Amino acid sequence: MATILITGGTGYIGAHAAAELMAAGWDVVLLDNLRNSTPGVLDRLAALTGKRAPFVQADVRDAAALDQVFAAHRIEAVMHFAGLKSVGQSWQQAALYLDNNVGGTACLVAAMERASVRRLVFSSSATVYGEPDGVPIPESAPLRSTNPYGRSKLLCEDMLRELQGADSRWQVALLRYFTPVGAHPSALLGESPQGVPNNLMPYIAQVAAGLRPELQVFGQDYPTLDGTGVRDYIHVVDLAQGHVAALRYVQQSGKGITVNLGTGQGISVLQMVRAFEAASGRPVALRFVDRRPGDVAACYAATDLAHSALGWRAQLPLSAMCADAWRWQQALAADRAE
Ligand code: NAD
Ligand code: WQD
Repeated sequence: MATILITGGTGYIGAHAAAELMAAGWDVVLLDNLRNSTPGVLDRLAALTGKRAPFVQADVRDAAALDQVFAAHRIEAVMHFAGLKSVGQSWQQAALYLDNNVGGTACLVAAMERASVRRLVFSSSATVYGEPDGVPIPESAPLRSTNPYGRSKLLCEDMLRELQGADSRWQVALLRYFTPVGAHPSALLGESPQGVPNNLMPYIAQVAAGLRPELQVFGQDYPTLDGTGVRDYIHVVDLAQGHVAALRYVQQSGKGITVNLGTGQGISVLQMVRAFEAASGRPVALRFVDRRPGDVAACYAATDLAHSALGWRAQLPLSAMCADAWRWQQALAADRAE
């Protein structure tokens, strides 16, 4: 099997994608600047897969480092996860998000062109849809992101669409993730947010573990079944397997694709709280507060194209997302105790 370069490969989703690719027989090379991950992932990935993936500590904005990677390995395609992903932080550091996410993607694409590697799987986000006109959201929905992070993803998509339009040798899969959650069932891989978690699932897990007193529910007056925000939560292992399916699609069809990766099911904040309490056996105290600026009421995916083109559907239920996230939270606590 040829080798896949995974940028952001020690990150939450990149590491899970590496595990699924290695399980499917591909060799991988991981590249990461360790801005939001630690090298310990490499040992846990080796324990999980039985094979140590080559790791390059570098920034995707470092052209010389990228050229060295392409010279040293027979790279057949790139999965590009490296990026900053906090909506809140992007309001304070818009220039950094443009440089890191857009500039980093441009630098990577230029290095791929120099190496004649023109197959790319790109981490996009449902945030490019902004406030949708309706749900479920099809890939054809208008693109109207409403924050600097989402704009950086939209700019990357536009750049990659332009590239494919100009040069048909490029084959790009733009994967629009909805809301990834959970962890590998082995509890060897998972999300380790630094500081206060921005996202719902890791925050709930920390409340259940007694690390935080209560969950603040951002808004109870949305036009949804119980007034709280509704999202399409997808297990990170399902998401990683969706990347394998997308890579196979690009290889076999020789074409690019823009596709949603979600479950197609909307779950409210309160439904998630109840599911996590059931999975963990722990109470999750909560308090209703004002809406979070920029949040949309409901966001969940149309999944027909992912199924018809990629032959992929998310398989893991909400109960597994919560059970695996809870097991990972307990593993984190055990590590801290050591
Ligand atoms: P993450 O922060 O866990 O992983 C990203 C990795 O990229 C980190 O290990 C970080 O150190 C690395 N990185 C960042 N900038 C880099 C650079 N310039 N050079 C090299 N490495 C760099 O995040 P994640 O949740 O795994 O997300 C991966 C990708 O998926 C991101 O592009 C993100 O925008 C996108 N995405 C994430 C979500 C989500 O909810 N997690 C949803 C939609 C899209
Ligand atoms: C889910 C729901 C909140 C925290 C975000 C980014 C998106 C993507 C995934 C990168 C919402 C509510 C949350 C809390 C709460 N990231 N909530 N209390 O909003 O779907 O997407 O992460 O691409 O770009 O926007 O996920 O987990 O942040 O929020 O009530 O402490 O939980 O209002 O309704 P979201 P989330």
